[in-house]
Amino acid sequence: MATALRPIRWKKDALYLLEQRLLPFRETWVKCDTVEKVARAIEDMTVRGAPAIGITAAYGVALAAFRSKSKSPAGFKKEIEKAIARLRKTRPTAVNLFWALDRMQRQLKKMKGASSSDQAYWLEREAVEIHKEDEALCGLLGKYGARLLAGCRNVLTHCNTGALATGGDGTALSAITTAAKKNRKLHVWVDETRPYLQGARLTAYEVAHARIPFHLITDNMSASLMKQGKVDAIIVGADRIVANGDTANKIGTYALAVMAKAHGIPFYVSAPTTTLDLTKRTGKEIVIEQRNPREVTHPQGYPIAKEDYPVYNPAFDVTPGELITAIVLETGTCRPPYTKSLKKALANSKVVS
Ligand code: MRU
Repeated sequence: MATALRPIRWKKDALYLLEQRLLPFRETWVKCDTVEKVARAIEDMTVRGAPAIGITAAYGVALAAFRSKSKSPAGFKKEIEKAIARLRKTRPTAVNLFWALDRMQRQLKKMKGASSSDQAYWLEREAVEIHKEDEALCGLLGKYGARLLAGCRNVLTHCNTGALATGGDGTALSAITTAAKKNRKLHVWVDETRPYLQGARLTAYEVAHARIPFHLITDNMSASLMKQGKVDAIIVGADRIVANGDTANKIGTYALAVMAKAHGIPFYVSAPTTTLDLTKRTGKEIVIEQRNPREVTHPQGYPIAKEDYPVYNPAFDVTPGELITAIVLETGTCRPPYTKSLKKALANSKVVS
């Protein structure tokens, strides 16, 4: 049996991240021993995927605590708050990052008056807890998501939502790998996910690792596959799901949802409740990250267009809740109307918030 892929390793003195920018060709690890290195690893996508960046940021805070040279509790608190503020500025869309940092901030508040070394110990424990919890959440997402995929022959997925994007086996991809254990004929359409190619580079790598039959396709091939009846379901992850079910996810997700609707194909979203942001009513309130134009003109460093061309490069788009057949959370499967079902799911969630 293939060993589980785990891209985030905490070794007390430092955080080690599997360098995702070099996959699938090279498996190397990046050592982050300062908060700044952790923040940069999130920004430059050494680590990426909503739950994974939340976990990484939490370890960044633990690292700040361990590295602190401050003698006074007030100085220590100031340093940790500075680290949290830096990590908050890394990527704006995935709410898991802010959820994890808020949780670390609350832990800091709880320990007011304790020695710096005690505080460092408890901050580390909280980060490890966040990591472990996400692993468990992925297991539940796999279980519930696989039920929706039972009976499917061909499933299409977008971006990377597997072990590389989380603390466990993934969100949408966990549903696929779980379903594939029962249905050996399950076949996956992995779309390349322009411009950053998370599908081609990372999902194909994970699906191959899990020995699941798949084909890699370019993003513009999916409509034609749907028309030919070669897609039974689509399942994707999420970076932020708001109260009415509007979902921010990797750019291109919205197009897939529109095509799914046109072809009568179920469109599923899978995410832990740490991806819910019920403080926002609709997707219009979600901040969409704009990334470096070179990701479009020079994918993987290879020039395909002149670098001075004007470029539009949003990392995410928002799929309206009405195009989503169901949202799989670790608490179970939510159906429309999402304003009710998501609220209920969050109330039932055991995750510390
Ligand atoms: O820009 P990325 O690679 O961080 O974007 C990742 C995605 O959009 C994923 O679909 C999402 O984070 C869910 S990961 C389980």
